[in-house]
Amino acid sequence: MTLKVLSVASEAAPLVKTGGLADVAGALPAALAAQGVDVTTFLPGYPAVLARLGKAKAVHKWGALLGSPARLLAGKLGEHPLLVLDAPALFGREGGPYTDASGKDWDDNWRRFAAFARAAADIGAGAVKGRSFDLVHAHDWQAGMVPAYLRLAPLEGGRPVPSVITIHNMAFQGYFPGDIFPQLGLPPSAWTVDGVESYGGVGFLKAGMQLADAITTVSPTYAGEIRSVEFGMGLEGLVLARSNRVHGILNGIDTAEWSPAIDPHLAARYTGGKLAARAKNKRAVEREFGLERDDGPLFVVVSRLTWQKGMDVLAEVLDHLVGIGGRLALLGSGDAEIEAAFHAAAVRHPGRIGVRIGYDEPLAHALQGGGDAILIPSRFEPCGLTQLYGLAYGCVPIVSRTGGLADTVIDANPAALAAGVATGIQINAVNAGALAMGISRAVELYHRPAEWKRLQKSGMKADFSWGASGAAYAALYRQLIEEQG
Ligand code: ADP
Ligand code: GLC
Repeated sequence: MTLKVLSVASEAAPLVKTGGLADVAGALPAALAAQGVDVTTFLPGYPAVLARLGKAKAVHKWGALLGSPARLLAGKLGEHPLLVLDAPALFGREGGPYTDASGKDWDDNWRRFAAFARAAADIGAGAVKGRSFDLVHAHDWQAGMVPAYLRLAPLEGGRPVPSVITIHNMAFQGYFPGDIFPQLGLPPSAWTVDGVESYGGVGFLKAGMQLADAITTVSPTYAGEIRSVEFGMGLEGLVLARSNRVHGILNGIDTAEWSPAIDPHLAARYTGGKLAARAKNKRAVEREFGLERDDGPLFVVVSRLTWQKGMDVLAEVLDHLVGIGGRLALLGSGDAEIEAAFHAAAVRHPGRIGVRIGYDEPLAHALQGGGDAILIPSRFEPCGLTQLYGLAYGCVPIVSRTGGLADTVIDANPAALAAGVATGIQINAVNAGALAMGISRAVELYHRPAEWKRLQKSGMKADFSWGASGAAYAALYRQLIEEQG
């Protein structure tokens, strides 16, 4: 039987993207179609999304969705159905999905994403004529209130449907002051620790985790880590209490977007059997970043420049990286202080370090296709996609041993090298000493070309397509629907 699932996310590639959530939400419909699941994606109507939608049909209307009039527009995300919440008072503004142009969170984010969740719960329960669903899948805090509305304030006459919440990042919880509670349209009984209350405020992610039928996160190791104070960030108790409902399902990659054999953003396309062709891509990156040309390794970074990503630690070891013959091409944006540290390093090491502050999708592909190794020293990483792209592109990942990084990269220790299964380098701790050592190991290995090539090829052979993970989601959906009876 084909299942119908409503996937509720605040971003989805290629329409709107600030990070890996968009890649995953954008890839799920195709991943699940292969498993007999029809996914409809539901997105907020940011200006960029409405522009891409063009002339779309309104399939539903709300007179007042938490106070704001809204329409539901129908379109397509690739070949798959898309619904968009057109609510100009909430989403019709320039800036990012969550912040204004200066990077400050919108003051009314609670209202924007509570309204989005209220709409999703209505749609999931069958409010829109001709569109019924068997399950609702909510992503991150922005959709965290969906399970709460489904359970605690269901649509009158609607169909009860189970829900899943996926935690893509526990660090972002959508935590708001308690005085918003009366405006959420929930019954007073929802104001308890078994409902949406969290440490005296309203926790959107917490509400989702409390009230969804299942909680998933994006790697098995992170599913274990979030039981601890360090990674659970205040919600570890809830994770423990519901641990029989918590699943770790690794993200896959969208091989239509991320395959070096067909990638239109590369100067030269290649396969594992034609690695020599990467040289042309490396030259292109060197030119783009104003780097000297030489035979040493070219390290790359494609990342948010934040504490989570360990980018402050990387900035500390750049003199070492250059001192042992490395070069670095970095693309990213984030904390002003970290950006400044990279700029300063580029000034200290002209021709050896090139920095591009900004967001540039084609350049992200070019770096994976031309870099020798990608640096990902994250302090925590629920899954991580750039190491998976690195593996697929023969751009050897150097990662910290945490979350999805630990689950997807096989360290080039002597045993793994001897067995021919190594795919990258893992560092044991996120500090300057450990990272410097990881970079040194990479430089040494790079100068043993046969071994380096083997590392690249093993990574390229690994399967990170959505097959297994799509099947895991589909199995979970079916189990929950069966339980509901
Ligand atoms: P996170 O979602 O925590 O930022 P992921 O590794 O899961 O980390 O996903 C990051 C995604 O965003 C990848 O697709 C990566 O290529 C992309 N990305 C990150 N920074 C940039 C940038 N400055 N320009 C282009 N793409 C970027
Ligand atoms: C989050 C996480 C990242 C993960 C992505 C997609 O942004 O930080 O590790 O890969 O979501 O699930």
